[in-house]
Amino acid sequence: MALQKNIFSFIISIISIISCCNSLRDDLLDNYLQEESGYDFQAFPSYFSPIGGVKLHNSAKIETGYSDFKKSRILAASVKTINVQIFGAKGDGRTDDSKAFQKAWEEACSSYSAVNFLVPQGKNYLLKPIKFSGPCKSQITIQIAGTLVASDDRSDYSKDGTHWLLFDSVQNLIVEGGGTINGNGNVWWKNSCKINKATPCKDAPTVLTFYNCTNLVVKNLKIKDSPQIHLSFEKCMNVEASNLEVNAPERSPNTDGIHVTGTQNIQISRCNIGTGDDCISIVSGSKKVLATDIICGPGHGISIGSLGSGNSEDYVSDVVLNRAKLSGTTNGVRIKTWQGGSGSASNIKFQNVEMQNVNNPIIIDQSYCDQSKPCKEQSSAVQVKNVVYQNIKGTSASNVAIDFDCKYGNCYSPVLLDILHGIQEVSCSDGYSKISMRFYG
Ligand SMILES: *[C@@H]1O[C@H](CO)[C@@H](O)[C@H](O)[C@H]1NC(C)=O
Repeated sequence: MALQKNIFSFIISIISIISCCNSLRDDLLDNYLQEESGYDFQAFPSYFSPIGGVKLHNSAKIETGYSDFKKSRILAASVKTINVQIFGAKGDGRTDDSKAFQKAWEEACSSYSAVNFLVPQGKNYLLKPIKFSGPCKSQITIQIAGTLVASDDRSDYSKDGTHWLLFDSVQNLIVEGGGTINGNGNVWWKNSCKINKATPCKDAPTVLTFYNCTNLVVKNLKIKDSPQIHLSFEKCMNVEASNLEVNAPERSPNTDGIHVTGTQNIQISRCNIGTGDDCISIVSGSKKVLATDIICGPGHGISIGSLGSGNSEDYVSDVVLNRAKLSGTTNGVRIKTWQGGSGSASNIKFQNVEMQNVNNPIIIDQSYCDQSKPCKEQSSAVQVKNVVYQNIKGTSASNVAIDFDCKYGNCYSPVLLDILHGIQEVSCSDGYSKISMRFYG
């Protein structure tokens, strides 16, 4: 039984971390950010207004491709319904329905009129790994009203061990419907090297992967019990992910909720995520990521990174998290980088975040090491710059509310003042240090 930890409360009104420059300045933070980066956080939401916004008249000036998509959806005269049952799917939870889905997809993808790809309610479709390949002739709405269940025979994944449902190079796609996508991950968790130390470390399938997709909406779905990542956006452009419920047991290893990699212009909103790993993880090549109204826990919190593993050069920029509630997570808002990497995590804002009983509420870890062997000291590091924490409050389950472990001058330095400003606002009633800051080099 774990020791009952004391709960410490903290309120952080504003902390900023600016990359190393020359001198301490008293400039207001916003000026600072704009000067340093040319980046205006206030303007950020405009990137996203065309996505999901019903107000089409607003969107003309931005991302016209996407608004055309929206308009054509509304104007589409005829929509062809493709029901997987017609293609022979049984939906009895026992029969392998993969072939029927594959055939239905081929029909959908080659249709010149818009398609409603229907997975009916009240049915349970057992599926092996499926690749839904594009590009397609027209826009497709996948209406998942029923349940999809992953085969848990691991030999079914021998060709490609990392994907269950993969959408590859599809444009103008909507996936919705209120149904459930069940990754059936138990057998994978049991055999994970993090649970069973005798087994070698191997990747397990992601439930739902979107690779190289443009103009994509994923909404109103439950995704659960993934063998590994639940929902992954890889090299996508213009994405709206909203009203998603993502759940897996706290002890399931590496079961990130929503993973964003190499993806630009993505809005994640109104999602409730509780898994065994990061609720949201944003990694290399991602840019213009806006996450709003996120509920997270259990899990490892909201992470940027890890970046720089295997001495890689990684960049993440323009990330805003606004309005989030985290409870019982191991981390709150985290930036994690491996030693030896290069590149940067820049223009990042965490605001209006409430945390309850979170172990590391605010953390920058530049010595992240998620491997069995200890990681070697290395002199290069991914730079962390222009990071703002604003209106973050709640309780810490440990005696540290803010933990910045910064290597070799690769985060901030002149902003110590701003950080100290934040420190003054951390309420401290017990004599413990609430802030741990380690600066090296
Ligand atoms: C990405 O998708 C487009 C079509 O949408 C396709 O033409 C292109 O080849 C794809 N690229 C990759 C790397 O798969």
